[in-house]
Amino acid sequence: MKIVVTGGLGFIGSHTVVELQNEGFEVVAIDNLSNSSEKVLDGIFNITGKKPIFEKFDLREKSAVQDFFARHNDVAGVIHFAASKAVGESVENPLLYYENNINALVYVLQELTKLEKANFIFSSSCTVYGQAEKMPITENASIQPAMSPYGNTKQIGEEIITDVAKVTNVNSILLRYFNPIGSHPTAEIGELPLGVPQNLVPFITQTAFGLREKLSVYGDDYPTSDGTAVRDYIHVVDLAKAHVIAMKRLLDKKNIEKVETFNLGTGTGSSVLEVITAFEKVSNQKLNYQIVGRREGDITEAYANTDKANNILGWKAQSTLEESLASAWKWEQKIRS
Ligand SMILES: NC(=O)c1ccc[n+]([C@@H]2O[C@H](COP(=O)([O-])OP(=O)(O)OC[C@H]3O[C@@H](n4cnc5c(N)ncnc54)[C@H](O)[C@@H]3O)[C@@H](O)[C@H]2O)c1
Repeated sequence: MKIVVTGGLGFIGSHTVVELQNEGFEVVAIDNLSNSSEKVLDGIFNITGKKPIFEKFDLREKSAVQDFFARHNDVAGVIHFAASKAVGESVENPLLYYENNINALVYVLQELTKLEKANFIFSSSCTVYGQAEKMPITENASIQPAMSPYGNTKQIGEEIITDVAKVTNVNSILLRYFNPIGSHPTAEIGELPLGVPQNLVPFITQTAFGLREKLSVYGDDYPTSDGTAVRDYIHVVDLAKAHVIAMKRLLDKKNIEKVETFNLGTGTGSSVLEVITAFEKVSNQKLNYQIVGRREGDITEAYANTDKANNILGWKAQSTLEESLASAWKWEQKIRS
């Protein structure tokens, strides 16, 4: 069965391509390489012994999307990762984010509605919950006003899919990721942040490698156990596996609603200092860091209630924080060697 993975050469997309191929799916990856490299295909080949079909084009080009689906009208489902994802950049350049994250989504959905099998998985985010009132966060927690254009594109994306599903044959699963980290255990594929990393773990590994002088810990006066902000860090391979399970659910027509939503996290919150301590343990070195003031827009804590994914999808994150950090460290060392 043919599955299309948009953004298939990116961080989460490439790990999902591997898991799909491991399960015997034929994969067609679309990517414009704006935040990835064609070398990722070699990494996928080294893990699975197979390269996906790769089509390089920009999903903002409506005619290219139409042409693609006209040639691939036998696809069984689409997993849509392609998007721009830097929160700060989205504040500086909102139109880029609305164009890339919304127009591309609309063009793909337009073509999907013409297919016999219109199964769609969307990369959403826990940012839709903002600072939720209750921890752990369930899928029923209220959606808060977005704090950035990036966050807004995820909320609007969910709404577009829900509206479309009401009047078309599209069946969809919205996956709300918490904080994806780590790399494939083989270190053949992983995260390739461009420029200064926005996220904690790549910043830690780059600091440990000596690419950055020190890590800034934003705030130690949050109402958490040690004062630093708490997040739910999930290994990217666990996350990728959830996409395969979700796609099989749609293919087997096991979904109960036309749009279903699942949190994907570990269910455990870790503070920034806990992450640093765990990293120091697995890398066997001290990390240079300093506490600085809070960063605007950061929330205090977010971790998932994963009961729905556990019980309905039958999926549970397997990796520990230490395993995830060890894989991130292995990847950092490999790409710098
Ligand atoms: N990584 C996270 O922390 C996180 C958290 C929550 C949600 N998400 C969402 O998950 C998805 C995947 O994230 P990721 O971390 O793998 O990002 P990524 O940047 O590594 O992957 C996205 C891929 O899409 C490609 N792409 C972007 N715009 C495109 C376009 N117009 N046409 C074709 N290809 C295009 C990029 O080149 C890249 O390879 C995104 O939708 C992101 O918003 C990510």
